[in-house]
Amino acid sequence: MSDAVVTDDRERLIDVRGLEKTFKVGFLERKRVTAVKGVSFDVRRGEIFGFLGPNGAGKTTTIKMLTGLIAPSGGEAFLFGKPVREPTSRTRIGFLPENPYVYPYLTPREFVELSGTLSGMGGKSLRSRTMEVLELLKIAYAADRQVRRLSKGMLQRTGLAAALVSDPEMLILDEPMSGLDPVGRKEVKDLIFAERDRGRTIFFSTHILGDVEAMCDRVAILREGKVVVSGALRSLLRGDVLRTEITLANVSAELEAALVEKGFTVHRRPDLVVFDIEGEGRVGEVLRLVLDAGAQVVEVTPRRETLEDLFLRRAL
Ligand SMILES: Nc1ncnc2c1ncn2[C@@H]1O[C@H](COP(=O)(O)OP(=O)(O)OP(=O)(O)O)[C@@H](O)[C@H]1O
Ligand SMILES: [Mg+2]
Repeated sequence: MSDAVVTDDRERLIDVRGLEKTFKVGFLERKRVTAVKGVSFDVRRGEIFGFLGPNGAGKTTTIKMLTGLIAPSGGEAFLFGKPVREPTSRTRIGFLPENPYVYPYLTPREFVELSGTLSGMGGKSLRSRTMEVLELLKIAYAADRQVRRLSKGMLQRTGLAAALVSDPEMLILDEPMSGLDPVGRKEVKDLIFAERDRGRTIFFSTHILGDVEAMCDRVAILREGKVVVSGALRSLLRGDVLRTEITLANVSAELEAALVEKGFTVHRRPDLVVFDIEGEGRVGEVLRLVLDAGAQVVEVTPRRETLEDLFLRRAL
């Protein structure tokens, strides 16, 4: 597969160049941990960008540098073309931190209003926008309960509502789906799509590869502080069928032996036999064989490369 050179002249809303972070840890801070080791990527206007990597890869540390919460040890980060050191560059983003700290005696309504006030909003429009985002995140029913009485998922929804209140041009979300149940995850995914359809740019981190598969235009995969894979998801994933999984019923011992003989991996399930063939080229030949032997074909599933396969192929 050749990597086509495509010119992309969309505005770079995030531009990270050679970002590094070393923490001093331990007794008298004598040890050093390098969490981020020269990370570079950019995020273009209007896209959904997935920032992936296993636990401890350096995602949150990078995001903290990107949002000006901690200073980099090396390299540079720009938001809307301006260095993140300049506070004005941060006014156009909505940010969801990894573990949103919400003052426990505030209510979601008060917390979201406070976030709006910090973004320069106020008055009636802030009050109505606050209710709008609380409704959008399906947390309006708990708008006036104290935050300390909310569940983890309700807290996450409150944090997302706060990130959205000022209707920012770009959302930077650190693990937006964390702590949510399957319905909640689906709602947040739909919300991210809806925001993108409204022209917003979304940058989010996750360690759950399946979450980004159908969502992101581009991704960067981080591992041990370095970007190991980055680019458009469509060009990174091989489109061709890697293997075909065939599920059969009524398989005679002779047929099973013939399949093993041909070198296929056969897995027995209650009442079923599942086997894998490489690619898809021999599917016709194999199906004729099993049908002639009187077996019943329950399912034929072509498996294309997933993000997880890519991760294992490129990141290990
Ligand atoms: N303040 C700190 N002091 C010392 N080490 C730190 C600090 N913050 C992060 N680290 C270390 O930096 C590395 C990267 O951590 P980071 O939180 O950025 O990972 P992550 O990719 O966000 O992981 P997760 O998916 O678990 O959230 C880890 O080894 C972590 O222990
Ligand atoms: Mg993290």
